[in-house]
Amino acid sequence: MSAYTIVTMPGDGIGNIVLPEAIRVLDAVGFDATYIEAPIGWSYWCREGNPLPDRTIELLQQYKLGLFGAITSKPKNRAMEELAPELRGKGLVYYSPIVKMRQLFNLDISIRPCKTFPGNPLNFIKRDSQGGIFEPQIDAVIFRQNTEGLYCGVEWTNPPDQVRAALETHPKMAAFKNTASADLAISTRIFTRSACQRICQAAFEYARTCHYPSVTVCEKPNVIRETSGMMEEEARKIAQHFPDIQLWSTNIDAQMMWLTKNPHEYGVIVAGNMFGDIISDGFAGLVGGLGFACSANIGHDVAVFEPTHGSAPKYEHLQPSIVNPVAMILAACMLLEHVGETDQAARIRTAIAKVIAAGKVRTYDMKMLKGGVDAIDKGAATTQDMTKTIIDHL
Ligand code: NAI
Ligand code: MG
Repeated sequence: MSAYTIVTMPGDGIGNIVLPEAIRVLDAVGFDATYIEAPIGWSYWCREGNPLPDRTIELLQQYKLGLFGAITSKPKNRAMEELAPELRGKGLVYYSPIVKMRQLFNLDISIRPCKTFPGNPLNFIKRDSQGGIFEPQIDAVIFRQNTEGLYCGVEWTNPPDQVRAALETHPKMAAFKNTASADLAISTRIFTRSACQRICQAAFEYARTCHYPSVTVCEKPNVIRETSGMMEEEARKIAQHFPDIQLWSTNIDAQMMWLTKNPHEYGVIVAGNMFGDIISDGFAGLVGGLGFACSANIGHDVAVFEPTHGSAPKYEHLQPSIVNPVAMILAACMLLEHVGETDQAARIRTAIAKVIAAGKVRTYDMKMLKGGVDAIDKGAATTQDMTKTIIDHL
């Protein structure tokens, strides 16, 4: 019997390429786990009419830990066109299996670390006052509320009369009184106090455990007074229990500008769903982009770890494969940290850091090449070479 059982969900496209690479590294570092593969993604929508089959949900319920690759999703009309003919006309509707998984298991805490690996040619650089160039050392960890806010899915085009009537109890709706319902699109931003508390509490605890001096709450409470206001208010209350950690507050728009001005000054950042999504992509871009961005989705019970990138279908069938496995391997490190195998996680991170610093083995993205088989002829490492080099450095 292994110490851990991990549900693996490679999904679509390059999810099938990078996830096995992460398992190779986990095996090499001595992680004592059994892996059970579970279906998810577009191909299961097409075949079974369900992108998140019940057996996957059951496995996650049973084993609590998931490693997820990536999925493909396509617009509404493509969903119907690609559905198996015998499943059409049965009222099946495509939904995002990632969003469903987050909501089903209440994976409300998303953690997205964005840390500079020195020597990565994709690192953000700046000019100093003398005209020289320097590379800020970025170490930001974004805590994104993962289940509510603008992504909660409560939205309408052509809202029903009751919705319209309810909204018209708000004086500001007067501005829309002459707009026909058919011409109204409404997406709601719903925050609950308990979810705001949970994400802020998690951010502060992480800051304390990992020795970050500050937590920045990044919302827009001067304009979005109710929802952003609630997040900010809860952050302030929780901050009182962490006198050793400073609470900073920024507005999302200004934060995106400061991102390129002083990114190294931020530590832990906490935000609602959409703003957390935006800031984490922004920071990821400063530390190497999609080949390096990983995230954890953590609930009370279940936790799922994934790279931020998608299925990159254009690279799915390239032989040899060229995509960067580091984001997926870093997601595996987050899993190790989550279960307390911090030494193993640290060994992998150190190995990755050494490979990047040595600069001899680089995937096409790190070589700033256009993706394609010829990238290998131009000196890019294959996905498997990159993994092997990391394993050699463990
Ligand atoms: P994508 O993240 O799949 O790829 C965008 C581009 O980023 C790629 O063409 C490639 O140039 C680069 N890239 C991505 N992963 C890389 C890696 N590991 N190494 C090197 N370069 C990498 O996003 P795109 O093209 O917008 O979407 C493709 C499909 O993925 C869509 O169906 C989309 O819905 C889905 N998607 C799924 C996500 C998920 O599963 N979490 C997240 C984002 C998109
Ligand atoms: Mg995103």
